[in-house]
Amino acid sequence: MNIELIKTASSFISEKIDQEPKVGLILGSGLGMLADEIENPVKIKYSEIPGFPTSTVEGHAGQLVIGSLKGLPVLAMQGRFHFYEGYGLDQVTFPVRVMRDLGIETMVVTNAAGAVNPSLEPGDLMLITDHINNTGANPLIGSNDSALGVRFPDMSTAYSPQLQQLARTVAENLNLPLREGVYVWNSGPSYETPAEIRMLQQIGGDAVGMSTVPEVIVARHAGMDVVGISCISNMAAGILDQPLSHDEVIETTERVREQFLSFVKELVANFSKK
Ligand code: 6GU
Repeated sequence: MNIELIKTASSFISEKIDQEPKVGLILGSGLGMLADEIENPVKIKYSEIPGFPTSTVEGHAGQLVIGSLKGLPVLAMQGRFHFYEGYGLDQVTFPVRVMRDLGIETMVVTNAAGAVNPSLEPGDLMLITDHINNTGANPLIGSNDSALGVRFPDMSTAYSPQLQQLARTVAENLNLPLREGVYVWNSGPSYETPAEIRMLQQIGGDAVGMSTVPEVIVARHAGMDVVGISCISNMAAGILDQPLSHDEVIETTERVREQFLSFVKELVANFSKK
């Protein structure tokens, strides 16, 4: 990872804003509308930022939205880069490096995920307590620049226990049911077979998706605290007798939009209390 490239992108962004963001938000499929809640937004298209890849997936706006959310200075990624789009993991995680360089210390990651655990239901919000990297790929493969982080970063608390506790309290205060579980990262873009889902059940996965884990690995390498929320958009293959479709993913995220928005906003509002 080239530090000069990170610095170039982060200076480009800094020059366009007057307040240093403290919280980074990565918004998953169908969840980008959270960025529309940001006040006094400065919007920067990924295509304008030096070093940034460009987003290709439909339904992803592909821009940074920087401003304040519940009074806190935040930077949101409206649309993320996926491994299945053909980007290298250095590109997928580049925005996280830039966030860290901008001074961001807390990252909120969100995604739409399929339920592996049959007790989850479409529409559930799931606090990510841990993850399983089921791809064998890792964004830190290659030479390690010790200015960015250690060679062998600890992943014992990839998802901050303090922020998990905060998330539980916030959900309780909002009277919002919050499920919990382990997120499995598969590369996609094909969904899993029923046999693969049975395997993920056996290895301890609760939900499965095609994102998040590379960004979290890099955030932890960079010393950021992470909190993760999955919106369960569908049951994974073989659990119900029906095929999977991206349309269902988008429909479900639209259905739970209000719950998701109020939860993440309230979580951010409480960050000073962690
Ligand atoms: Cl079932 N699998 C994967 N890999 N990603 C998903 C999903 C399933 N549902 C939403 N995203």
